[in-house]
Amino acid sequence: MSKNFKGIILAGGFGTRLKPLTNTISKQLMPVYDKPMIYYPLSTLMLTGIKDILIITTSKDESLFKNLLGNGERLGISISYKVQNYPNGIAEAFLIAEDFIKESNISLILGDNLFAGSDLINILKYAKNNLSGAHIFASIVNNPKSYGVVKFDKFRKIVDIIEKPLEAPSKYAVTGIYFFDSSVIKKTKLLKPSNRNELEITDLLKLYLKEDKLDFSILGRGITWLDTGTFESLHDASSFVKTIENRQGLKLGCPEEIAWRNRWINNSQLKAFSSENLKSGYGEYLLSLLDEKIF
Ligand code: DAU
Repeated sequence: MSKNFKGIILAGGFGTRLKPLTNTISKQLMPVYDKPMIYYPLSTLMLTGIKDILIITTSKDESLFKNLLGNGERLGISISYKVQNYPNGIAEAFLIAEDFIKESNISLILGDNLFAGSDLINILKYAKNNLSGAHIFASIVNNPKSYGVVKFDKFRKIVDIIEKPLEAPSKYAVTGIYFFDSSVIKKTKLLKPSNRNELEITDLLKLYLKEDKLDFSILGRGITWLDTGTFESLHDASSFVKTIENRQGLKLGCPEEIAWRNRWINNSQLKAFSSENLKSGYGEYLLSLLDEKIF
């Protein structure tokens, strides 16, 4: 039997690049077109088949996330919450989540990352089912210097990952979804704060790389990866979702739909969500799924 797999959504930080939008509300609750941002990473974990999820947020915002998502029961999943008091680095998530992770494998997704594309689920599920160590997902970007960047050798083996390099060794950025085995906690405890005083996810990945236990998948052209931490990128993400949804009449990042398609909730549970959201059209969409005929 494959190992238990849990998920963490990291939704803390100050959202400084989005001020004054983030003066009173968490970045990860900002709208990305027709949904709160956190719906997208939540949907990605749910599509991967992960049902036990921890949301890490700030003490100021915790109650807002709880109001939005509760304990997850309505989606047929479990959602729990922990607070990160200060943004001490992405890898700190594993220290905060130690009691949650226990012996499980774990996926970490950044609360401001949006993934879309039909092949995505297969790639994520394959990596999840074949995990041995850590697995990252790299995507070609125009501005690799803003990210963790993968350096490959001529055999396309990863030889290094460099956080926000001055000179990018490739165009492959490390996206904000990561899979780790349960040794992640022990490894995180070995990390020292970086120059910017953070426990860096890139340093953690390098510990796996040193043990030759860092695997990767490339997210190719058909898969979209967006982050949403600046005015520009937030707007781009909204436009992207709007364009796809209006063209296809299908929603991206709709947790109620995924729960229903995964058979984690039944028709009447879907109807309950629908009646709460009728006036916005979101509810009508959920209802329309019940008499959907694809072919
Ligand atoms: O988006 C992918 C990139 O994410 C990777 O390519 C980089 O290797 C990785 O370091 C990270 O880079 P960012 O510059 O995007 O990280 P940032 O500090 O903006 O944090 C990403 C999200 O995580 C952000 O929404 C806030 C949240 N966060 C961040 C830190 C450092 C927390 O909740 N707590 C934290 O301590």
